[in-house]
Amino acid sequence: MDTVVSGIRSTGNLHLGNYFGAVKNFLRMQHENKCFFFIADYHALTTHPKPEDLHGNIRQVLAEYLACGIDPEVATVFVQSDVPEVSELYLLLNMNAYIGELERTASFKEKVRKQPDNINAGLLTYPVLMAADIIIHKANKVPVGKDQEQHLEMTRRFARRFNMMYGVNYFPEPDAYNFGQQLLKIPGLDGTGKMGKSEGNGIFLADTPHEIRKKVMRAVTDTGPTAPGQEPSEPVKNLFTIMKVVSDQSVVNYFTDKFASCEIRYGDMKKQLAEDIIKVTDPVRERINEILADKKYLAKVVASGAEKARESAAKTVREVREIIGYKPF
Ligand code: TYM
Repeated sequence: MDTVVSGIRSTGNLHLGNYFGAVKNFLRMQHENKCFFFIADYHALTTHPKPEDLHGNIRQVLAEYLACGIDPEVATVFVQSDVPEVSELYLLLNMNAYIGELERTASFKEKVRKQPDNINAGLLTYPVLMAADIIIHKANKVPVGKDQEQHLEMTRRFARRFNMMYGVNYFPEPDAYNFGQQLLKIPGLDGTGKMGKSEGNGIFLADTPHEIRKKVMRAVTDTGPTAPGQEPSEPVKNLFTIMKVVSDQSVVNYFTDKFASCEIRYGDMKKQLAEDIIKVTDPVRERINEILADKKYLAKVVASGAEKARESAAKTVREVREIIGYKPF
């Protein structure tokens, strides 16, 4: 049995990238393994949310995750800030994390480029907190999308470094995990880059069918293939990538053949793609509102998750303190 940790920042609604990159694998793992699922609301502070928005964001993301089918009866579902033990492990790990390696992290460099007026220390040490989230439960598998691959590499490095430094074999080195072997990067509809929460290129699980059709029909394409065997352009490749995760293989084959023979009509492809996306999102969307309305249920899930997660986290922090050399007087 593996120990699995999965998380999401509470900075925006769940999109197809989150679902196919991480959630779907978690759903498949939750029944056979010891699974922890949490809302990363400390990580969310790097974007400086307003106090009046923070709680609502957490509730929304939690409800969306539960609506996907995460079962709090079998998995431990909790909110990161309900488990303050993680901040102690984060502090301890920070002592062995080096500025150079943190500055070289791709996600940090991207933030420096995109938001030069808010390069806070939380962003720099983001991978350390993420490592703490994972190793505090001694996880060995972490279902994530491709964009988190480097963070997982750093998690392994921090775990290994701790073990080496204290001559112990305490923390396992966790792997980024996907059932299909390769980690996924779900692209956005704007022709470039990955689908993101704030890029304006996403399809959200909470979107109505009308919104989804509108977004997909507007997705960037090109003027169409002109010679058989031609490579699709980036925006068209992206539509095929999304199609591969939401549609049946026969549908993918049909449009791949149409593209290869230069007979493809992007309008038809988009119509099909939108309907296949709606098949995935519709049942989830309806559940989101039901769950959000049930305050008692959400409170119960979070309270019992916090208790279970704290028990596991407190044990690790206690043992880590001993390994480091803290002793009672
Ligand atoms: P976040 O909130 O950005 O994304 C949550 C999960 O969704 C995946 N994902 C994608 N996968 C494929 N294609 C995409 N376009 C796409 N966009 C997002 C992410 O890879 C992630 O698995 N740092 C994490 C949150 C976190 C965490 C952790 C995750 C904090 N501590 C410990 C796992 C374990 C993050 O920002 O995810």
